[in-house]
Formats: sequence, C-alpha cells, structure tokens
Amino acid sequence: LPTVSLNSGKSFQSSGDISILDAALKSDIRLPYSCKTGRCGTCRCRVTRGITKLLCDEFGLTDEEKANNWILGCARCAATDLALEVEDLGSLAIPPARVIPCRISVLERLSNDSLKVVVRLPPNERLDFIGGQYVSVIGPGGIRRSYSVANAPRQDNTLEFHIRLLTDGVMSHYWAKEARLNDLLRLHGPLGTFFLRDVAARDLIFLATGTGFAPVKAMLETLPGLSEHQQPRSVMLVWGARSETDLYFDVNAISCVQRYIPVLSRGDLSWRGERGYVQDVFLRWAPDLHNSVIYACGSDAMIRGVKSAVLQAGLPVQRFFSDAFLSSNHSIDK
Ligand code: FES
Repeated sequence: LPTVSLNSGKSFQSSGDISILDAALKSDIRLPYSCKTGRCGTCRCRVTRGITKLLCDEFGLTDEEKANNWILGCARCAATDLALEVEDLGSLAIPPARVIPCRISVLERLSNDSLKVVVRLPPNERLDFIGGQYVSVIGPGGIRRSYSVANAPRQDNTLEFHIRLLTDGVMSHYWAKEARLNDLLRLHGPLGTFFLRDVAARDLIFLATGTGFAPVKAMLETLPGLSEHQQPRSVMLVWGARSETDLYFDVNAISCVQRYIPVLSRGDLSWRGERGYVQDVFLRWAPDLHNSVIYACGSDAMIRGVKSAVLQAGLPVQRFFSDAFLSSNHSIDK
C-alpha cells in the first residue's frame, strides 16, 4: 500500500480505492475538510513528491493552484508513495464523530425560506464539538443532510440549526411540511474543520451569505470564552442576503462584533445599506489584509468568488477558511 507522508512528520497508509482524506481520517489523522465532494477546497494540500489519481472533479481549486501541485485530498487517491504539505490540525483536540439520538424542541420560521430548528439530546448524552463544525442530521427513511450547528456548546445540551428550505429538497419537504415537536432524529457528528484557529491579535473577518451565518454565529459565541491574550484585535462581519427579511438575526446584539455590514443583493428601494457581492463590499471597507484572517460561509459559488477576490487583494491563503453549502442535487443542503 502507498505511504502518505505529511510535512508534520506523520504518515499513514493509503489504499487504491479510497481518497487520501478518508485514508487519513481512518488512520486517526485529522486533516482539514468540509464537503468531501471536491467543491469547497478546504482539504487542499500540495504534493511535493509522488503521483495521485483523480476520483472526482476538483471544483474547489483554482487553475493556478492546480498548476502549482495543489490537490484536493477528498478528490484523489494515492497512486504511489506521496509527500504532502497540509495544515496540521494535530495539536487541536477535535472531538470524534458519533451517532446520537435527539428530539426536536423548537421549530420556528426565520424568513420566507429558512427555519430555525433546535434539537435536544437525551439527558445522559453529550455531543462535544467546536463552534463552527457541522453534523449530519439523519431524518425519516434514513435521509441525511449536513447542517452547521448555529451555537457554541451549551450547558443545556441543545443544538440549533438554521435551515434553508429548498423547493425540491426531500429533507426540506420534511422540515417544512412534516416535522413536529418531539420528532425523533439522529445526528452524526461533529464533522468538518470550520472552526477558529489561532486568532490572537488578528483582524478577524467573517463573510457569510444566507444561512451561512449559522457557523459564524457559533464561532462568535466561542470568542468570549477565549482568554485575553487569545482575543482577536478586531471582529467584523459582512452578511449578505437577497432581501432584508433574510437577514434574520439581530447581529447588533452580539457585543464582540465591532463592525457589522449587512448587504443585500436585491432589496427594495427603501434599503439604504450596501448592495452587491459581500466580497466587493468588504474590500471597499477594509483593504488592508496583512493582519487579517477570513472565515467565509455560503454557497460554493460564493466561496469561490470570495476566495479569489481576497487572495488577489493580498490575503495569504493559509489565513482563508471556508465552509460551503452545496446545491440540492448533492447529498448536502445545509
Ligand atoms: Fe475536499 Fe471540500 S473539497 S472537503
């Protein structure tokens, strides 16, 4: 079996038919990931030696990255022994994923096409996770969809989700038409690596669209728990949506956000705020990126647009983190 060696000094065995990412996770080596379908770009790593084989399209990479030997660990397997450069998450205690039952305790409309769902776990169970991670919700008939947890870990063992309702989504149909309080569901998680890294003294910037606000809210809730010397220098949020009612949360109530810019893509004439793409609005406000770290969450098209704009504006790629929700014909509609 090919051996994959990482720049951290760790190594693991890969086998022909599974992705490099899955082989690493199987060997208990934590690499960054989110979608596992070649779209978000989170699992990018650079091949410094060896040959890989493509398993699915690498939408999450730019042409420039491909030309510079970057690959997506979820989209390729090892054809020979490999040496890879990748972000080392080894020192972070990432809780292991498991399956756990839960019941719906809140169902509430947030906007025309989004819903707040709160679930509670059995009294003797805990789900350890880091603010920003997602879980798979396993619903009726075994359908699974991934949703970011919209809160930092809570004492009362509840998890909140902000769910965008898709017109032709099977799970969306359940949420909109069939879900009732106390329905029994299962969760598999925590999953993904979209959580705050070291943000001490950084300008921390969140760019979100729609329900991409959910993991941002979770990360914001973790900030008060950081010690004084771990705190960022500043916190900014740019949140985009189609209309004012889609900005469903009162961000001004979150005291650690120093600058909040709501942005609408449509909006009626009475809207006096910003309009356009979140990345364009952001770059108009804060062009100096030398001390910044950016966390972006939205559709995969939004992530691609944000990533190329902020990298072009000078943000080092290792300070860009993203979590993409995928279109409805894929298995994820978080
Ligand atoms: Fe691999 Fe998203 S592209 S985890």
